[in-house]
Amino acid sequence: MYTGHKIVKAFGHENRSVAEFNEMNEKLYESGWRAQFVSGIIMPIMSLIGNIGYVFVSIVGGILVTKRAIEFGDILAFIQYTRQFTMPITQLANISNVIQSTIASAERVFELLDEEEQVPEANDAKSIASPRGAVRFDNVKFGYSADTVLIDHMNIDVKPGQTVAIVGPTGAGKTTLINLLMRFYELHDGRITIDGVPIEDMRRSGLRRMFGMVLQDTWLFNGTILDNIAYGREGATEDEVVSAARAAHADHFIRTLPDGYETVLNEEASNISQGQKQLLTIARAILADPSILILDEATSSVDTRTEVYIQKAMNELMEGRTSFVIAHRLSTIRDADLILVMNKGSIIEQGTHEELLAAGGFYADLYNSQFTGKASLSEPSAG
Ligand SMILES: Nc1ncnc2c1ncn2[C@@H]1O[C@H](COP(=O)(O)OP(=O)(O)O)[C@@H](O)[C@H]1O
Ligand SMILES: [Mg+2]
Repeated sequence: MYTGHKIVKAFGHENRSVAEFNEMNEKLYESGWRAQFVSGIIMPIMSLIGNIGYVFVSIVGGILVTKRAIEFGDILAFIQYTRQFTMPITQLANISNVIQSTIASAERVFELLDEEEQVPEANDAKSIASPRGAVRFDNVKFGYSADTVLIDHMNIDVKPGQTVAIVGPTGAGKTTLINLLMRFYELHDGRITIDGVPIEDMRRSGLRRMFGMVLQDTWLFNGTILDNIAYGREGATEDEVVSAARAAHADHFIRTLPDGYETVLNEEASNISQGQKQLLTIARAILADPSILILDEATSSVDTRTEVYIQKAMNELMEGRTSFVIAHRLSTIRDADLILVMNKGSIIEQGTHEELLAAGGFYADLYNSQFTGKASLSEPSAG
């Protein structure tokens, strides 16, 4: 509710939110109050019981002494013993609240320990010194859980330096494909190789270092714009950052900000627009200079003109570099070497722009609908 308070306001849910908050707060107050009270009262109760014990010992002892049944020293000795006996009990009572919170914490710790381990890396993990960027998917099968299958029998063969565009409706599995390539998830079957080396045989860090990724949801941190772009590569100089920003068409808007490159982005980076955020993350990827570039709806929030500019810059950057581009505006991917059309987890068409248009299938439909507004809107047949 805190991070989404604009949504809460926009939908007029303030009162409900306040009520919900009050309810939670009341619950917290109740249990907090009780916890404090109980842990606070334990000590006084323990000493009260101890003191009652003294009184009892003194009275009974006094009577016994007057009857000369015991010596005065025996009372003192007995008091010592009772004190030694109650001391550990008092200490236990003292840490009872600690024990309570330990149990609660242990539950959470064990929940974490019970999580499935990620597949360990091969002992003789290979690394590719200078990757050429040949990517192959061989009969890949994958689903987000063990019993569902999203992608099945997927075969893709990307030659070094090719630009691969992936298009398809939302939820088709485009991002999933990228996640598999970066090994964020394990395959159910089949394999993915880069330059002939299966990705399971590589160190995860080595694998991921080959990629530069620009995603739809931007990730920027609380810091200056300069730092945010420089994050792409360790030890980048200011000049390099500026030229990366220029390539991403971010330089102009950055310079119009009062503090320029020293502008501090706030926690949610809400002081610049969504499109500007995307430009910064693109600049970051350009600076990183990776072997394989992945753009997942990276320009979805910038205007079409800027997108074309970025596309030009990208074309330069992608020259001689394998790249995967996911975009909804088909005009930007027309020049791709290979276009994969995905639907429901499988590739239903593949080829170049001309080939796909000539085939007159789903892609042709999609393309025409974006330019003429006349789509037959037929459901594509999967498979
Ligand atoms: N982390 C996840 N856990 C379970 N299911 C997911 C996860 N991410 C995506 N999915 C599902 O996988 C399908 C493909 O998603 P995705 O690859 O993100 O589609 P898109 O083509 O829009 O990028 C969707 O049906 C989505 O609900
Ligand atoms: Mg996606």
